Amino acid sequence: MSISPKTTPIYQTSVFTFEDLNALEAYFSEPGPQYMYTRYGNPNTDELAQEINLLEQGQGAVVTSSGMSAILTAVLVYAKAGDHVLCAEEIYGGSSSLLSSELTRMGVEVTYVPTADIYSLEGYVQDNTKLLLVETISNPMMTVMDLAQVAQACQAKGLKLIVDNTFASPILTNPLTLGADIVIHSVTKYLSGHSDVTAGVVVAKEAADAQRAAQIMRTWGLNLSPFEGWLAARGLKTLKLRMREHSANALVLAQWLQQHPKVQAVFYPGLPDHPQHALAKEQGKGMFGGMLSFRIADDTESVNRFMRALTHIPFAPSLAGVTTSISYPVGTSHRGLTPAQRESQGITVGLIRLSVGIEEVEELRADLARGLAAI
Ligand SMILES: Cc1ncc(COP(=O)(O)O)c(C=O)c1O
Repeated sequence: MSISPKTTPIYQTSVFTFEDLNALEAYFSEPGPQYMYTRYGNPNTDELAQEINLLEQGQGAVVTSSGMSAILTAVLVYAKAGDHVLCAEEIYGGSSSLLSSELTRMGVEVTYVPTADIYSLEGYVQDNTKLLLVETISNPMMTVMDLAQVAQACQAKGLKLIVDNTFASPILTNPLTLGADIVIHSVTKYLSGHSDVTAGVVVAKEAADAQRAAQIMRTWGLNLSPFEGWLAARGLKTLKLRMREHSANALVLAQWLQQHPKVQAVFYPGLPDHPQHALAKEQGKGMFGGMLSFRIADDTESVNRFMRALTHIPFAPSLAGVTTSISYPVGTSHRGLTPAQRESQGITVGLIRLSVGIEEVEELRADLARGLAAI
């Protein structure tokens, strides 16, 4: 009897065995899927990397223990001590902490570029500048980056472009096809999709960069566990279906919130008055994703009353799961910013971020109505 499973089993092992020295030599000399030690590679994490590589149209991918370790890996592919890196000012707080608090200690200099200057980079590039890190859709204001234009600016200045595509997912946008050199994801979010995995991925346009990323992952010990890899690969199979539902639900809710008297502003690329609506439509293949933010009265008591009155939607400071959740940027993702930095980005006390899930939209609308009625 031969056993032939339809799905890849979980290879929950830290190490693989060799029959003899010939088998060991074959591992080192023959190409192909052979395994020695899970930190170097495992069928479950390889499967996940290959599937994401296909979706992002890369020349190689490596999965990592988290989105943070994916960003670290990507930056280390191009930058070493003595180099200078540029980063978009509107960026995930963890990314700026990694650059400002950790990589600067290792001799990597960092400068933040305001969105207004990102397409020219005029005055920001030094002789030792190696790369620019940006996000496709920013958190929490949902600014959409024109990736083709920013890639042109980078090419003109001889910089590598790293794009964090977490909010868009490869279903909406493929940064490598628009000129990026590396795309990273917090796989924790849409790619796995069920709020039960912490993982990351680095996908490269050049095979040599993917190989370098794999080397960094192994040597720094940034690998993903087989079980997390298996769970994420399972979630990934429904990514396309989920993104359609996330996008359709988010559009309905954004339109409804926009006309609600207790809502002062809604930030969603799918709304015609969003500053990058046309770009988002083109770059997102007609979909706008499941993330939106909205502003209620700028006082914490109103925010608390809104949160407490919700019966279905929990306050959970993450995003992109199949069930809807809200987050509070001032108190979570953007807590480390100074009040002036928050003010300049429009992140006020009354700003609430909504990660729209794939539930029945009427159920979500009713819950939001309950929350808003309590303010
Ligand atoms: C846009 C973005 N990039 C990267 C990360 C880091 O990912 P992880 O939490 O999987 O390390 C996050 C986490 O929230 C994020 O929102």
